[in-house]
Amino acid sequence: MRRFRVAVVHGVNLDQLGRRNPEHYGGLTFRELERQIDEWAKDLDQTPRFFQTNHEGALVEYLHRAEGLVDGIIINPGAWTHYSYAIRDALELAAVPAIEVHLSNIHEREEWRRHSVLSDLCLATVAGQGPDGYRDALTQLRDHLISAAPVPTPRAGTPTGETLSRPDTPRVHDDPDRSDGEPLNDDLGVSAAAGGIDTPDVEIPNPGGAGSDLPGVDR
Ligand code: DQA
Repeated sequence: MRRFRVAVVHGVNLDQLGRRNPEHYGGLTFRELERQIDEWAKDLDQTPRFFQTNHEGALVEYLHRAEGLVDGIIINPGAWTHYSYAIRDALELAAVPAIEVHLSNIHEREEWRRHSVLSDLCLATVAGQGPDGYRDALTQLRDHLISAAPVPTPRAGTPTGETLSRPDTPRVHDDPDRSDGEPLNDDLGVSAAAGGIDTPDVEIPNPGGAGSDLPGVDR
C-alpha cells in the first residue's frame, strides 16, 4: 500500500510542552509527543516529517513549500490558531488535505480560544483528546487520502521517477533517528535565521508507489 507523506506541524509555544499547564496539555514533553506521533504514523504506514517553530513567518514559508512534498498535514498552530490569517492563507496555498489538532479542548476554554481561523480549511478539527488526538487525526487523514487517491494505472514506458527542479524546491534534510533531546525538526529548507533557501533538485523515486518516501526522512 502507498505510504503517505504527512507533515506534522506545530506552532508557537508547543516546544514548551512539559512546562505548560498539565491540566490542559498533559505531562509529555514535546520531544515525547513527537516520538509518540512518529510511532503512530509509522503504524499507520505513513511517512511523517516534523516541524515546529515559534516564528510565524517560518511556518508560513514551510507551508509555501509543502505542496508536492507532502500528501497531508496535521497542524497544531498553538495560539496562532485563533488569529493568524497569514497562516490560514499559507495553509490554503499548501493545497493539501489538513487536519487541525489541539491537545486541549479549545471549545471549552476562554472565549478567545473558541474560534479557529483555520478550521474551515481543514478536513476536521480534533480537540481535547490530548496526545491521542494525533492518532485520531492521522487515522482520519489516512482514510481520506486512501479514498481520494487515484487508482494507479501504469502504462508501458511510464517513468518510475520524477525530478523536481523548481527554483523554490528546498533541500530535504537528513533527520536520522537522533537520540538527543531536540525536536524532530525537518524544515523543508526554511531557515528564518539564515533567510536563504537552498535550491537543489529533489529526486522523488517512483512517486505514489513503493519507496515513495522523500529522501532523507526515512526515520
Ligand atoms: C493549543 C490550544 C491553543 O489555544 C494554545 O494557544 C496552545 C495549544 C492546544 O494544543 O490545545 O498553545 O493549540
